[in-house]
Amino acid sequence: PSVNQRYRTGFHFQPPKNWMNDPNGPMIYKGIYHLFYQWNPKGAVWGNIVWAHSTSTDLVNWDPHPPAIFPSEPFDINGCWSGSVTILPNGKPVILYTGIDPKNQQVQNIAEPKNLSDPYLREWTKSTLNPLMAPDAVNGINASSFRDPTTAWLGHDKKWRVIIGSKIHRCGLAITYTSKDFLKWEKSPEPLHYDDGSGMWECPDFFPVTRSGSKGVETSSFGEPNEILKHVLKISLDDTKHDYYTIGTYDRVKDKFVPDSGFKMDGTAPRYDYGKYYASKTFYDSAKNRRILWGWTNESSSVEDDVEKGWSGIQTIPRKIWLYRSGKQLIQWPVREVERLRTKEVKNLRNKVLKSGSRLEVYGVTAAQADVEVLFKVRDLEKADVIDPSWTDPQLICSQMNVSVKSSFGPFGLMVLASKNLEEYTSVYFRIFKARQNSGKFVVVMCSDQSRSSLEKDNDKTTYGAFVDINPYQPIPLRALIDHSVVESFGGKGRACITSRVYPKLAIGKSSHLFAFNYGSQSVDVLNLNAWSMNSAQIS
Ligand code: FRU
Repeated sequence: PSVNQRYRTGFHFQPPKNWMNDPNGPMIYKGIYHLFYQWNPKGAVWGNIVWAHSTSTDLVNWDPHPPAIFPSEPFDINGCWSGSVTILPNGKPVILYTGIDPKNQQVQNIAEPKNLSDPYLREWTKSTLNPLMAPDAVNGINASSFRDPTTAWLGHDKKWRVIIGSKIHRCGLAITYTSKDFLKWEKSPEPLHYDDGSGMWECPDFFPVTRSGSKGVETSSFGEPNEILKHVLKISLDDTKHDYYTIGTYDRVKDKFVPDSGFKMDGTAPRYDYGKYYASKTFYDSAKNRRILWGWTNESSSVEDDVEKGWSGIQTIPRKIWLYRSGKQLIQWPVREVERLRTKEVKNLRNKVLKSGSRLEVYGVTAAQADVEVLFKVRDLEKADVIDPSWTDPQLICSQMNVSVKSSFGPFGLMVLASKNLEEYTSVYFRIFKARQNSGKFVVVMCSDQSRSSLEKDNDKTTYGAFVDINPYQPIPLRALIDHSVVESFGGKGRACITSRVYPKLAIGKSSHLFAFNYGSQSVDVLNLNAWSMNSAQIS
């Protein structure tokens, strides 16, 4: 690839050119997956936003279609912003999206497929009743903080509900609207949920999860008889640009979301991803009985670089998402379909001991476009260091103790997108600490350190970190999806996810290397390491 195209990805979703942000209205219709996304037809920076459109039969390979929704009417003439699809009981998908009107007010509009027998749903008709929901002096909504309708759900009373992201002063809120016919919508007196002090809530998502197993639950479902459902509220905090979620109970009588104890829907809530990841959205995949999560990952390079390479933004690999059996956190795992791109498996690494200070190169894999799964095992955990009780922020732990700082256990993990002589590398690794002396409890930290990822100085190389709620007496799994300028890491089989963007100058193409490493003072076993070169997906 030409110099300025070497950071394009091989199997992540990205348009052929220009700016992309939020995933919009993901769905499956007649066996075909649809992805819409915020796109600028005119350049590599945000603006002129339309709903670009692609379809797929496997969530991996994608066919582009012309934009489905673009500014054309007073109710969206200044932009077609984010929104969602709802599949009506008769099987018809409809889009609710935010339009920007001539006064730059945010309003909610509906669009319907022109021709339901076209499985690609290439053309969409906007209702003449638009806007269906508008801010006005009577309802007290701030016209510049009223956007991103969710997938709607049906209540016992056969009325639809939808939530819209908003804020009043510093109070973030999810405003509820209800409707009998999906066209006439009425604002509820009370929001579904709010948090004073969190600022604007963008791209809310609200969906049921089951207490039993990993299968998905349709958004309007009340669950099987005897099945316990919980609900998840996700918000994208404009202030911090992270996606946070809370698990709780949906009180259908009061139309209120009640977080479980210990959860607060603000910047202290757990995150889907502890790296670069925003404006995500889920949908229920009725063909495979799972809930799938899409999320946007922005660039970490300069705007000038975006303009030079002619594009900005990728979507992460769609992830299956479900409630862990503890009921306290969500698990995410790349959809299985992506494994079809695996080729040339490297399987010669089994039961290797990584001595203190050692590195093991994984040969025979195209390290710039790869999928790696490794299983570590530590022994003699009584030798672990005790964590400083003031270290409550995993990102701070990872950035203050960089990869060269030795603990008893850790850093150990993977060095990805590494140049031959390690002038450049991104390290994804663990450290294990005792929670307290003699407590028998441990703290596992997972880090993604970008500080040495590129000789280029102008990139954002922030180090990311997450706690992984696993028992370190058990093998510790790590998976990394490596794709030229993105590394998606999954610790503890999807208990913690970190996505990072990196732009190596040396570690590109065939000059990219992959290592397992252990710089901690104790030895670590590699029980198993499998790495696959990844074929490129057919996208755009
Ligand atoms: C989130 C967001 C949404 C808005 C869209 C505009 O990234 O700001 O709130 O609808 O992007 O492109």
